[in-house]
Amino acid sequence: MAEELKINAAADKEARYHELIPQLQALTEGERDLTANMANIAAALKEVFGWWWVGFYLVKDNELVLGPFQGPVACTRIASGRGVCGTAWKERRSILVPDVNRFPGHIACSSASVSEIVVPIFNRQQEVAGVLDVDSERYDVLDETDVRFLEEIAGIIIQ
Ligand code: SME
Repeated sequence: MAEELKINAAADKEARYHELIPQLQALTEGERDLTANMANIAAALKEVFGWWWVGFYLVKDNELVLGPFQGPVACTRIASGRGVCGTAWKERRSILVPDVNRFPGHIACSSASVSEIVVPIFNRQQEVAGVLDVDSERYDVLDETDVRFLEEIAGIIIQ
């Protein structure tokens, strides 16, 4: 496909995910390099939804290490069970945090980020290979609809 997204910016969130997901599949199809695919997916999500920060952490030597992302600089290493990312990894589940002030142990990479979603990425052995992290500077943006579609997108990354 042409390296350009076609999304109806006026459509609602769910419709934009429905437009975006096949384009992400086309963009990553036939490309086995994880970094290349994560970089394009982070860029696409940032372009379509305009979130404050969107990116990946990958499990390396029993830590989460910063991977491709879009947004301000972020912390580079996160231990298992620490913050939202470390908890999603340890508990092998997606976590929606509508207000980070109410999440004990939240890692404030940026004080502008007030809500977030972290979705685990599973490899073929069903181990957590990393996480997809989305942060917003608004309280009313991220919800269960995002969790559902971000889980679908996390499934595209490891083919
Ligand atoms: N907020 C995350 C840390 C990563 S950054 O926000 C990019 C957390 O608590 O896991």
